[in-house]
This record gives sequence, structure tokens and C-alpha cells, in this order.
Amino acid sequence: MQTWSKNSWRSLPAVQLPEYPDTEALAASEGRLASAPGLVSESEITRLREELAAVAEGKAFLLQGGDCAESFAEFSEENLRAMVRVFLQMAVTLTFSGRMPVVKVGRVAGQFAKPRSSNMETVEGESLPSYRGDIVNGSAFHEGERVPDPDRMQQSYHQSAATLNLLRSLSRDGFSSLSQVREWNSENLKQTKLGERYGEMAERIDESLAFIEACGLPVDEMSDLGGTSLYTSHEALLLPYEEALTRVSAAGAFNLSAHLLWVGERTRQLDHAHIEFVRGLENPIGVKVGPTMEVQELKDLVNLINPDRIPGKLVLISRMGADKVREVLPDLLAATAEFGSAVIWCCDPMHGNTVGTKQGFKTRDFDRVLDEVKGYFEVHEAAGSFPGGVHLEMTGQDVTECTGGIYNLHEDDLYRRYHTHCDPRLNASQALELAFLVGEMLKPWKDGRKKG
Ligand code: PEP
Ligand code: CO
Repeated sequence: MQTWSKNSWRSLPAVQLPEYPDTEALAASEGRLASAPGLVSESEITRLREELAAVAEGKAFLLQGGDCAESFAEFSEENLRAMVRVFLQMAVTLTFSGRMPVVKVGRVAGQFAKPRSSNMETVEGESLPSYRGDIVNGSAFHEGERVPDPDRMQQSYHQSAATLNLLRSLSRDGFSSLSQVREWNSENLKQTKLGERYGEMAERIDESLAFIEACGLPVDEMSDLGGTSLYTSHEALLLPYEEALTRVSAAGAFNLSAHLLWVGERTRQLDHAHIEFVRGLENPIGVKVGPTMEVQELKDLVNLINPDRIPGKLVLISRMGADKVREVLPDLLAATAEFGSAVIWCCDPMHGNTVGTKQGFKTRDFDRVLDEVKGYFEVHEAAGSFPGGVHLEMTGQDVTECTGGIYNLHEDDLYRRYHTHCDPRLNASQALELAFLVGEMLKPWKDGRKKG
């Protein structure tokens, strides 16, 4: 194996990378990012790794979620606040039902690059490069938009910085403090059964806090949902951007574009560029694990990314589809048993359950999503391993992209508010409903092993 450096990926085959026609402009854009301040810090990355070590030991649960793709057009304080609000609601629901701390990692502040099934898109006889996310090109179908433009990396960096700025100020202003638990319930949601259920839980939390305070214990310090804000993550897909934001210090190589980076299902070949790039980083690394993953391949992957078996370093994100998870996952869990806490498992019940409707929308049905999570928990129970976490595509907005849920959204309703730039997301109520259901599943797992 070659010696790792932040550009050693360049000598290996790479899939899903755009071809920039203007290589000088690309180099200039990379140069600007290479001297720009990091978006996150080494110490935050290290702290996330420590929090994930608790997940690896079955003492905490990972909630990872957000947009499939962030976009320049949908960037607004309102959207971000809505997302943070529902994410905190989900986290507190999981903490309350599951009786465990929740490590919160958003697909946010950098989730711009998308893998595509085809390099070109053809419409009415005209072929143009596929849209690869706002960090690469524009989604409108005309030539000027689709040419990969390296300056888009700058806009993505600055949008990520502004996003992080809001996330940090929300956390500093006490918005993520447990005393705000009622405030996260939006006006829309409050009117619904789910909102009511959430309100009842919030009341119980308030009572518990008052009780703890009355006992003379420091509620303020402990009430920030574990004392942490939201961590950030995105797919490490556009390697020129990722390399440019990687800094090497005495403590190792840190990618300062996000706290956690993951490698997608389509770029996880062991001898290719993406795995080569992430294997040298100190950041926690996720890797998507779909149904074609082989047992030996998975063991080799763990050895490559986490040779020192550091707990909290590697998250395997299972994305099998509801109809395959019970069949495929058991052998893979058996394969990782020998690695113990060097591996965290997490369930992405979204990407294996995408279907097309006859009206031409991509959607996911809530029941299929839920069934994959159930299957995933069942398989872990049988294997005696800890289910670790969930990875969701969701938004705080009231969109109509996934069918089902307690309001039983139908295929014919999807056109109403179908806003996603990529895959269909759970809307705020579907996301909270799922959190309640996963919380129930998690309850018997307190202290890592399911009891009875
Ligand atoms: C994603 O997470 O948006 C994605 C593309 O997932 P996967 O790599 O699992 O298909
Ligand atoms: Co997606």
C-alpha cells in the first residue's frame, strides 16, 4: 500500500468526479480554499470521535440527518432554523424514550456534492453533463449551467461557513438547551396529534428538570442535551474540495470541512480514490454499506480505515432496502463482530427504498422506511450487537416528498410541495413520528444489550 498523503488519492482510479474543462480555474479555486480558515476545528473533531466512542460501546445513539443535497437556492435562515428545530425534537425524543444520550450529526453545512447513475443526461435528443450538486454545476438543463464550475466550491464553502455560524449561535444562545424543549414544537405541529404527544413529553421533561433543580443539582450545565451542539457531516465526494480543506498538524490530518465525512455506496471501492483519501484522516469516517458488500471486502474495509481499532472512528451505514436487510445484514454483522468497538453500525433506511411514482416523482414510503429500521434492529438483536444509530434524509419544512406517515400522504399529493433538489425527504412530522417509533425500539437497549 502506498504512503498516505492528502493528495495520494490522485494516483488512483476515481469514479463520480466531474471533469472541469478549465483546469487553471480549478487550481486557483483549490488554492484559495487551501489557505482559507477551516470550517470546524481539530478539537471539535476529536470531541465527536470521543462521543462516538460511547456509541461504539452501546452507551449512546447516533442521529445523523438532513437534506439529501443542500442547495444555493433553498439557503435561508428560516429553513435552517426549521431543520434544527425538528432535529432537536427528534434527538430529545430519542433520548427520552431510548434513555440514552444522542450524538447529533447533521447532513448540513457542506452536503452539496451528489453521485449520479449516469455521466450525461439526455432530454429530447440533447445530451448534457448530469447535475452533480450545486458545488459542481447548476441543475437547470442548459449548457451554461451544466459545465462544472470550480468557483462553485467557493460559494459552497461560504454558505457552509454561514450555516455553521447560525448553528453555533443557536447553540450559544441556549436554543438547544433543554429548557427550550417546548419552543422546538412549531405552530403547525402543535395543532396535530403528534405535536400533542410531543407536548406531553416536553411537560414531563420540564417536571424532571424542576425536580433535579429542587434537589440542588446543576440543571443548566446538563440541560444542553449532553452539552454539545450539532456536529456537521457530508459525503466526501468532491475530492479536490476535500483535499483543499484538509490540514496536517502534529496530531495528524484533519479535514476541516466537516466533523464527520462519509463515503457513498458508489465510491467505496477499496482500491479507488475515495477510500484512499479518507483512510488517512483523523475525522470519524462513515461508509455506506449496500447489499452488494461482501464479507471479506467489509473486513478489509475496516482494517483499511480503522487499523488501530479506535472506538468512534468508523461508522458503517447500512442501506439495504426493507426487503433485503433481514437477508443480507446478518452475515455482515457476523463479519464485524471480531472488531468490537472499532465499528459502529448505523441504519440509513432511505436509500434502499426509493421508488418512482406513475406521476414521475421519486418517493419513499414511510412504512418501508420504518420496516427497514425494524429489520435492522431485529438483525442486531439476533447478532447480539448494538444498532448504533439512524441516518435520515429529512427537512424541517412541510414538504410532500415521502408517502405515508400519520397523515397518510398519498402519491397524488406529492406534487403539492415537492421541493427536494435530489432525493425525497421525510417532512417534519414524518421525521418526528419516526423518532418516536425508533425511540420505542431503542428502549430495551439501554446499556448496549437488549434485555428481555
Ligand atoms: C446519500 O446519502 O445521499 C447517497 C447518495 O447515498 P448512497 O451513497 O447510500 O446511495
Ligand atoms: Co440521498
